[in-house]
Amino acid sequence: MIKIAPSILAADFNRLGEEVKMVEKAGADYIHVDVMDGRFVPNISIGQPVVKAVRNATGLVLDVHLMIEEPDRYIESFADAGSDIICVHQEACIHLDRCISQIKELGKKAAVSLNPATDINTLKYILPRLDMVLVMSVNPGFGGQTFIKYSLEKISELRKMADALNPDLDIEVDGGITLSNIGEIIKAGANVIVAGSSIYRAENPAAVIAGMKELASE
Ligand code: DX5
Ligand code: ZN
Repeated sequence: MIKIAPSILAADFNRLGEEVKMVEKAGADYIHVDVMDGRFVPNISIGQPVVKAVRNATGLVLDVHLMIEEPDRYIESFADAGSDIICVHQEACIHLDRCISQIKELGKKAAVSLNPATDINTLKYILPRLDMVLVMSVNPGFGGQTFIKYSLEKISELRKMADALNPDLDIEVDGGITLSNIGEIIKAGANVIVAGSSIYRAENPAAVIAGMKELASE
């Protein structure tokens, strides 16, 4: 069964609690939280206090995507704020193995994200220790961008690698996902789908989530 993770980056921040509850009611599985530091990516979004507020608004899994430099300095505070999955960028971690240990020692699920141009082979040795890999299908930093086509090849190569090294690995894809391309993304091997604008900007978010799940099961 695939999981749908609406990204609150596209939500109305004036009504964040309601926006989170709305997607929960609409069938979301995770809440995807995009943390940006204005250094690793050219944009600043939100931090631990907002993760805490989202934690208070929902019982859903909080999938926290850290697009920040030196994430090892902040992992503990994001864990304390209520994250369930903590995702760091491969490109931001010099000592990725240590970072993963830190996340696991805090009892959280460990995920690593790859920018579009980063090779999946950079994760070969760490793959057996990961709960999830997040394949970025846009250059991180902004919502509402167009899906980068070559991500499909990357997802299927990663699924092959996971079959050999970590068959339970979740593969999450993030950026530019809509009802028109989710089918091929799932076919390529993804099982966790992040969607910001296509859910929050829709007239009927519940219909989009249901439609995504239906297309994914075909
Ligand atoms: C981009 C973020 C994404 C983004 C997805 O840096 O990681 O999670 O919010 O938004 P859409 O679905 O609009 O591309
Ligand atoms: Zn994200």
